[in-house]
Amino acid sequence: MDEKILAVFREKDENVSGEELSRLLGVSRSAIWKHIEKLRDEGYDIAAHPHLGYRLIGIPDKLLAAEIKWKLNTKFLGKKIYSYERVDSTMDIAYRLAEDNAPEGVVVFSEEQRRGRGRMDRNWVSPKGKGIYLSLILRPQILPLQASKITLLMAVAIAQAIRRVSGLAAKIKWPNDILINHKKVCGILTELSAELDRVRFLILGVGINVNTARSVLPKEATSIKEELGRKVSRIELAKEVLRQTEKYYSLFKQKKFSSIAREWKDLSAILGSRVKVVFQGKKIEGQAQDIDSQGALVIRRDNGFLEHIWTGDVVKVK
Ligand code: BTN
Repeated sequence: MDEKILAVFREKDENVSGEELSRLLGVSRSAIWKHIEKLRDEGYDIAAHPHLGYRLIGIPDKLLAAEIKWKLNTKFLGKKIYSYERVDSTMDIAYRLAEDNAPEGVVVFSEEQRRGRGRMDRNWVSPKGKGIYLSLILRPQILPLQASKITLLMAVAIAQAIRRVSGLAAKIKWPNDILINHKKVCGILTELSAELDRVRFLILGVGINVNTARSVLPKEATSIKEELGRKVSRIELAKEVLRQTEKYYSLFKQKKFSSIAREWKDLSAILGSRVKVVFQGKKIEGQAQDIDSQGALVIRRDNGFLEHIWTGDVVKVK
């Protein structure tokens, strides 16, 4: 109902009486009044005039479901959105929803995370109202081994979304960091529930430092605001992330991973450079040459051998 009331305000862009709202939406005037109060509690600025009725004056700077869904125009991603003020981690909430059979495309947002987590048990700094912290549920029919392809398509989608909304040249550092001016602005965490030969579901967690001050971020990180010199709308960026993710996921389902891989290579911050990869206590150094058809990073060692790496941390070597 809240979303319907907001839609009426936006379509009319003028004062709407309680009577008209009640007629249009088929509920009593007192029910309308209760919903208006609830929207105000959420931070919507709604003016009320005794003769003219209600008017929407301002929206809150929050990743609320109604705001993200407004003109989102996706087919399945974000049809159902859960928005929280504060959680431990959106990953846990999405995981529980998926275990309770939530469909593909459900997204969980939170304004703040107490225990935001990154890859390899690191923590993810998630200050209130500054970044985008989301987890989404996908149910691709793939083998567990292929899950890294989904992470790669997600990285392409987010880099493109950041480029569209901010104009900044976002790049990808394998496997799933998004960089601006060589500093990390976004990380992707993929968790899966699987049997040996079947993925039940994937939870993709995305953390983007949007309007975050550099002073609260780790030293190798940055935010879009810091690089751009001004704030950007978290709502617009969140919407674009969902649109681009749906686009690239659809390409993946149409078996067009090679075209996604091509884009990934164009956006790569490391291909062609000399890199060091640290994984499972091992170190490999060489030239980052390619990603293979499965999404593994191909490194040419100095002795000419090619190594296909599935996971790890990459650093450029000068
Ligand atoms: C990384 O680069 O290490 C991945 C970071 C992923 C952070 C996001 S924020 C939303 C979601 N909830 C979490 O606890 N983590 C992911």
